[in-house]
Amino acid sequence: METRTEDRSPANRAVITGCGSFVPPKVLTNDDLARLVDTSDEWITSRTGIKVRHITTAEESTAYLATQAAQRAMDYAGVGAEEINLITVATITPEMVFPSTACFVQQALGAKKAWAFDVGAACSGFVYSLHLVHQLIETRQIDKALVIGAETLTKITNWKDRTSCILFGDGAGAVVVERRQNTGRGLMYSTAGADGAFWESLNCRAYGSRHPSSQPLDDPDKVFMQIKGREVYQQAVRRIVDAVTDCLEHCRLTLDDVAMVISHQMNARIIESAAKRLNLPDEKVFINIQNYGNTSAASVPIAFDECVRQGRIKKGDIVIFVAFGAGVTWGANVIEF
Ligand code: UT7
Repeated sequence: METRTEDRSPANRAVITGCGSFVPPKVLTNDDLARLVDTSDEWITSRTGIKVRHITTAEESTAYLATQAAQRAMDYAGVGAEEINLITVATITPEMVFPSTACFVQQALGAKKAWAFDVGAACSGFVYSLHLVHQLIETRQIDKALVIGAETLTKITNWKDRTSCILFGDGAGAVVVERRQNTGRGLMYSTAGADGAFWESLNCRAYGSRHPSSQPLDDPDKVFMQIKGREVYQQAVRRIVDAVTDCLEHCRLTLDDVAMVISHQMNARIIESAAKRLNLPDEKVFINIQNYGNTSAASVPIAFDECVRQGRIKKGDIVIFVAFGAGVTWGANVIEF
């Protein structure tokens, strides 16, 4: 199943006016992991590009990370909490089963006029959210939205499984999206897709309705994330290439027009392999996985925030966000920043 949003209404544009990110201070190095499982800094670095990841303490929750990132994005945009109409939090590690993490963020920020909900599309959650907000703003349903990706993946990591525990980290990224009239800037195009046939490639089975907390688990490891890395790897490269190609074709852009492609940071080799197939030069591909690991829905907005603050993206630049994750899901957004 695929869905697209086109730039049909240039009179009302969805413009990203602010960005922010936050990661917990505690760091876990590859050498730290090598003391937990049979692995090495050399293996992790060469297979994934990851050197360190940030991990939450017991007191640091997903809503806490999300609120910090959101406040930074609002400060950047110069927007107050009471001006926000909508808060979305893309996450697979919510504050609790319900209510939504977005409601906790709404309360923490004092964004009393905002409606709030979570988006469950795993690593594609942030680009899915922008797809929705793009449409809500262009159809004048809302004026100002906080779009957040926030994860505490290390809370559902199996620290005995070397094939997965080396990959993930915690963090949050956010953008403020505002309705602006008669501007050339804004979200230009979004595309998204899903294929549930591959749900077993990446999942965390407990505690949903198939494995409720009231019944003992046949396998205690079902409380943790489980991945089939090789399967994910091959699909991810193909879906990223297809989504970026779709964006270029649909917006009639060449690679020369694009300042930066910001991919979900799942594995540096996956991003490099997709970039090679797309003929993207190195300077147009942002990789920061070495510092954070895979932060799922948070990785694109964290990378975007870093790019903006490092001056790698400037006002007016065309940027493509692209992601692939559990479901499986994928998606991309084209923005003129
Ligand atoms: O955002 C979506 C979530 N992300 C993903 O699902 C990750 C996508 N996949 C990947 O990033 C890569 O597939 C991995 C990094 C997970 C694995 O890299 P790979 O190059 O696909 O390695 P592999 O799974 O083919 O394993 C190669 C070898 C195996 O040993 P044998 O069978 O060749 O003897 C593994 O047992 O590496 C072994 N291995 C390890 N060795 C040291 C697996 N994990 C480790 C480890 N340290 N941590």
